[in-house]
Amino acid sequence: MKRILSFVCVTLMAALAWAEVSYDVIPLPRSIELSKKGEVFALTKGATVTWASGNEKMASNARLLVEYLRADANFQLKAEADVKKGAAIVLKIRNEKVKGESENPEAYRLTVNRGGITIEGATEEGVFRGIQTLRKAIGTDGGEQIDLPYVTINDEPRFSYRGVHFDTARHYFPVDFIKTYLDIMALHGCNQFHWHLTEDQGWRFEVKSMPELAKKGSVRQKTVVGRNSGIYDGQPYGGYYTQQECREIVAYAAKRFINVIPEIDLPGHMLGALHVYPELGCTGGPYEVWPIWGVSEDVLCAGNPKTLDFLKKVYDELCDVFPSKYIHIGGDESPRVRWKNCPKCQAKMKELGLTKEAELQTYINKEMDKHLSAKGRTLIGWDETLEGGLSENGIVMSWRGMKGGIAAARQHHRVIMTPTDYCYIDYYQLKEDWAQPHGIGGYLPVSKVYSMEPVPAELSKDEAQYIMGAQVNLWTEYVAYPEHAMYMLLPRLDAISEVQWMQPEQKDYEAFKVRLGRMQDLYNKLGYKYCYRIE
Ligand code: ACM
Ligand code: ZN
Repeated sequence: MKRILSFVCVTLMAALAWAEVSYDVIPLPRSIELSKKGEVFALTKGATVTWASGNEKMASNARLLVEYLRADANFQLKAEADVKKGAAIVLKIRNEKVKGESENPEAYRLTVNRGGITIEGATEEGVFRGIQTLRKAIGTDGGEQIDLPYVTINDEPRFSYRGVHFDTARHYFPVDFIKTYLDIMALHGCNQFHWHLTEDQGWRFEVKSMPELAKKGSVRQKTVVGRNSGIYDGQPYGGYYTQQECREIVAYAAKRFINVIPEIDLPGHMLGALHVYPELGCTGGPYEVWPIWGVSEDVLCAGNPKTLDFLKKVYDELCDVFPSKYIHIGGDESPRVRWKNCPKCQAKMKELGLTKEAELQTYINKEMDKHLSAKGRTLIGWDETLEGGLSENGIVMSWRGMKGGIAAARQHHRVIMTPTDYCYIDYYQLKEDWAQPHGIGGYLPVSKVYSMEPVPAELSKDEAQYIMGAQVNLWTEYVAYPEHAMYMLLPRLDAISEVQWMQPEQKDYEAFKVRLGRMQDLYNKLGYKYCYRIE
């Protein structure tokens, strides 16, 4: 009996030492065909990951896979190009398209069989998405050997735009944390990082031709305590990103197949700049870098020709640093009361034959659009930019509900859906606000994010094609530290990643919650903070 018991114990311990692999990851792949016979491929420590040499992106993919398994599961592999025999994991680009195979550049096939593990992508990007699936399937507990059930996974995302926004202007976040943020995005298959760089409360992008802008414009002398309480902390607060740091972040993101879309918000949310250049405001200032939250009535003067000169200089350097095809010009929450009372703005309206102040914003947008288009870039604006008529090329980011996006799609503008009701992750995620860190207000539980459908039913099939995808937004008036930012992000990012990636008929909230358990293991292992209660 004793011998039997000890045999059972040893067998059990061995089983526990081996990792449980599950291909039910987040976001769930489109098709998972497990072998009915239940065979497994044994991946052993020190096994080789290979690829065909001469492709730097594939080499980087291989190195990242090695790094992921080491960090996630304490499982060391080695990366070596051109290994013809005996490599356990082969990364490759699809040579030729098999009839009926996806045209999606992010499509990949992950197979596990007697020969080992193969990730074959339509492009290097597809291979990278497959690598994320493999690491999530393996999870955290590598042991000495990982048994992977034989499988064929065919996968591709539903939307080409899978965005995550981050406001690093209300609060500054260190470069290392921006990289962590990108890592978290990559883990979830997101591919567009919308980086909000300037605000009333701080200008955080270095402009070399105007060094004072970031030096002085990034620093507020104090910050209000709580919700515009009238009480201040008395502490100067600042920080900005040098161009060198921005380039480093762009390169880091590119390795993870994430595009970085910078946003310089205009013509409102500009007190950071107006503090340094008061002559660009309608009243001439002085202006302070704002110590409170909300929407300031002080905006750039639309009638002063220096305003456009300033903006063009800023965007020239921005485009130099950020290769993104898309450049975000903001355009949200820009009151027009100063324009109404400003002789320069009124003279400009007369000159252009405009009757409403709102059209002055359109005038600025169109000038910026011309400037950016000449550089081969495409402008994105918040949905306010649609009000006075958006330039032909412009992309609308619909945040005040989906109405703006619907109107834009009907005018054949491309649209990114990020309505407050589903996508504002600065809102609370639990009913009891005392049970969680600060939010801006509101209530956006994981289940609500999960229920989002980015393509409104009222759009025709043709109009629906203009919906590029969805994005969650993290504004940081009440989020000052990385741990808090991660908590706001996770697990609502898990929910949006399934909205962004999966076909709607494939989504299943109950199954998603089960899948989330394994993601939480990864978050624990990697030190990512998250909200563990799910509502
Ligand atoms: C926004 O939330 N002001 C775009
Ligand atoms: Zn003015």
